[in-house]
Amino acid sequence: MKGVEQIPWLYDLYMSLVDHLGFARWRWWVVGGAEGRTLEVGCGTGRNLPFYEPEVTVVGLELDLLLLRAARKKVNHALLVVGSAEALPFRDTAFDTIVSSLVFCSVRDPELGLREVARVLRPSGKLRMLEHVRSEVRVMAMLQNLAQPAWTLVTGGCHPNRGTEATLRRVGFEIDADSRRANGTMRRFAARYSSMDPGK
Ligand SMILES: C[S@@+](CC[C@H](N)C(=O)[O-])C[C@H]1O[C@@H](n2cnc3c(N)ncnc32)[C@H](O)[C@@H]1O
Repeated sequence: MKGVEQIPWLYDLYMSLVDHLGFARWRWWVVGGAEGRTLEVGCGTGRNLPFYEPEVTVVGLELDLLLLRAARKKVNHALLVVGSAEALPFRDTAFDTIVSSLVFCSVRDPELGLREVARVLRPSGKLRMLEHVRSEVRVMAMLQNLAQPAWTLVTGGCHPNRGTEATLRRVGFEIDADSRRANGTMRRFAARYSSMDPGK
């Protein structure tokens, strides 16, 4: 069954409202710091794509072809690719910047997806994220757990109770504290891959 995330017109309608209410400023921050070859993972209907600076080379990757068609109507300068975050179809260290907004709550295996992000990001490249996360308030986190199955069904994949920042750290990313902003369960920040893996 399709959820809101898989129905382009419905997702765009809902997100237009959310963006209008102030969320667009967070999108601009995430996209505004992109430099060089940039991969946007889970670009969906392409809501961020019009905001990249013209000198940035953008590749948008998305699971769902229908969503990429909607993205193509918004921009014609980006290369759009059907693919999965858990198996990125790119060579190691291919990108200077990787962007994700509202994606790792939906990726089926976020840890594997973030390992793939680390693989295709060049050493000292930047990951810029805008994600909602598990609440730090215990009661709220319990409510998120309760709501998760129905919420995941209605949205088409979103998990409101994911500790994405903890997953990032586990994988070997270091969140830049100066860049980090939190508003309720919403987070935006830049991160670098800091694993001691000699391969990076
Ligand atoms: C809430 S939408 C966000 C879309 C867009 N990034 C935005 O900010 O509006 C989540 C997106 O992640 C995509 N997605 C989920 N799992 C994915 C995966 N494993 N690989 C790539 N994209 C994925 C979904 O298809 C959907 O377009």
